[in-house]
Amino acid sequence: MHGYKEFLDEILISEQDLQERIAELGAQISQDYAGKQPHLICILRGGVMFLADLIRHITVPNTIDFMAISSYGMGVRQSTGKVRITLDLQEDIRDRDVLLVEDIVDSGYTIATVLEFLRTRHPNSLRVCALLNKAERREIQVPIDYCGFVIPDKFVFGYGLDLDELYRNLPFIGTVNPERYHPGE
Ligand code: IMP
Ligand code: MG
Repeated sequence: MHGYKEFLDEILISEQDLQERIAELGAQISQDYAGKQPHLICILRGGVMFLADLIRHITVPNTIDFMAISSYGMGVRQSTGKVRITLDLQEDIRDRDVLLVEDIVDSGYTIATVLEFLRTRHPNSLRVCALLNKAERREIQVPIDYCGFVIPDKFVFGYGLDLDELYRNLPFIGTVNPERYHPGE
């Protein structure tokens, strides 16, 4: 856990700002899904913190499930555009009102692939809730129905997002100073 302060450039989104925005998103989702029972699908592992906090603000009955996809390798900072499903859902989503919960949309390939995969299983509805949106990095258009924050093109960590698998537990979103970050040291 030690050391992140050495390469933390700035706290981009504070714990308080995150929690306030997530409460708003939860309220909006509760309103939009009134009379329904949304099925929230979290993409492991980056989305877990967000999902856990978000569902505490959802007041309609809801269920959750998890899936995992192949992610960046160590030290690699670019999406390859190739995404592989490594852990499938436990529950059938046919006729369900599915809400995909993701930590960050960058190039858009991950969400695009996952949406395509989920659509083949015929949910009743399918929407996307992303905490962070690096809008200027988008390479493929994807719908984001609920967005927490639009952020600049900087590598971020904390609040579920990792830096070479570390620092997911930090309660805020920070940016990395690449000149001061030396993995493995
Ligand atoms: P995309 O397929 O390029 O949209 O990438 C989405 C995935 O890349 C996210 O789910 C994250 O796992 C990862 N990712 C993209 N940008 C960042 C970042 O700044 N910090 C940590 N992970 C990131
Ligand atoms: Mg992710």
